[in-house]
Amino acid sequence: MKRILIAVVLWAGPALASDIPALYQKHCAACHGTRGQGGTATPVIAGMPADAVAKVVRNHPPPMEKTGMNGDEVAAMGKYVSGMKK
Ligand code: HEC
Repeated sequence: MKRILIAVVLWAGPALASDIPALYQKHCAACHGTRGQGGTATPVIAGMPADAVAKVVRNHPPPMEKTGMNGDEVAAMGKYVSGMKK
């Protein structure tokens, strides 16, 4: 039993350690800026509540597109953006 638990933890490790800053730069920075500061046609998102950010990413209203991030990554992205300084 103990061995199975360890295996699960090892397996889950890399998924939890997704490089969220890199995912942000890949999926979001082009529109919202490298620091979430917004662009000419996009809102400032830095410092928004994590839940609100996650909800938007999950629903991806146009022009935002599906990112292919899993649920954990979307939640982590919310926290990451929320922690950005305006
Ligand atoms: C193609 C450009 C584009 C990309 C890429 C993009 N966004 Fe957006 N985003 C927008 C625009 C434009 C709006 C404003 C939409 C509106 O007001 O109807 C928006 C709105 C938002 C909002 C809501 C802001 C508010 O004030 O309510 C959040 C949060 C957000 N984006 C987060 C993200 C995150 C996180 C990513 C990366 C996973 C991302 N966006 C990728 C263009 C983009």
